[in-house]
Amino acid sequence: MQKIINNYAVNQLRKLRRLIFSKSIFVHANANSWINKTGKIDESTTYSGLFSEESEGCLKWNHFSTIYDELLGQYRSKINLKVLEIGVQYGGSQRILRKYFHNSATITGIDIDDNCLNIDTGTNLRIGSSRDENFLKSIVEEMGGIDIVVDDGSHRSSDQKISFEILFPLLSNNGLYIVEDLEHSYFWQSGGVPYLPNTFWNYAKRTTELLNNTFRIYPKLGTLKLEHSDLFSIKFYPQLIAFQKLTRNNLFVSKVGHQYPEGSNGPQ
Ligand SMILES: C[S@@+](CC[C@H](N)C(=O)[O-])C[C@H]1O[C@@H](n2cnc3c(N)ncnc32)[C@H](O)[C@@H]1O
Repeated sequence: MQKIINNYAVNQLRKLRRLIFSKSIFVHANANSWINKTGKIDESTTYSGLFSEESEGCLKWNHFSTIYDELLGQYRSKINLKVLEIGVQYGGSQRILRKYFHNSATITGIDIDDNCLNIDTGTNLRIGSSRDENFLKSIVEEMGGIDIVVDDGSHRSSDQKISFEILFPLLSNNGLYIVEDLEHSYFWQSGGVPYLPNTFWNYAKRTTELLNNTFRIYPKLGTLKLEHSDLFSIKFYPQLIAFQKLTRNNLFVSKVGHQYPEGSNGPQ
């Protein structure tokens, strides 16, 4: 009996050793994990996975990677995708984006700190401010358009708003505009005073009015410069907001389905 127990224990230990060993191989060999063993692109590699592997410098809230997996998946197969990130710092996010989009996207990062030019990200790095309209426009021109913007720059509400109002109109149809670290809307050091209208969070809340632009008959809200009818959705997450652009054209001009019966006023 003792022998059976010993054999069982030894087998279990061997299994455990195999498991640990294979896991460690996986971790070490996996610096290029977006490419699988056959050299083909591994579609299943997630932003979260790449984020956890990025050791050289990417400081983000953990839950952002879950959000990115939700938001960015639909863009992975897009040909000639163009991604602009505001704020490079140590280049971590640039490297993740490059890997996530299989090296095939045009990825550009901008920063005010010219030390960033010494970082190896495998992406295009440019020095300039997210507040500078001419600079932003020249970057978009150089990229040949933009599909996705990630604002992880100064985190100041006024800067976030300036860049958004310059860049959102330049986004391609179905483009996505993400603003990170909106906890700064609550930090007075970043120009955020909760409940006052000038925080980016509160500004974004007002942009929800643009979703129903077609039906807005009262005067436009004075503090909103944007008057685009192509703002299609706004997703609010903890500390992050994503705006999606979709040209509506005739999207809401006609309704499909049954009309209410004659004489009826519709649902009461
Ligand atoms: C939080 S770090 C970016 C981190 C990077 N996105 C990542 O996740 O790996 C913010 C960066 O924004 C830069 N920055 C600050 N103000 C800026 C501005 N007005 N325009 C462009 N970059 C700015 C800073 O120099 C800093 O490197």
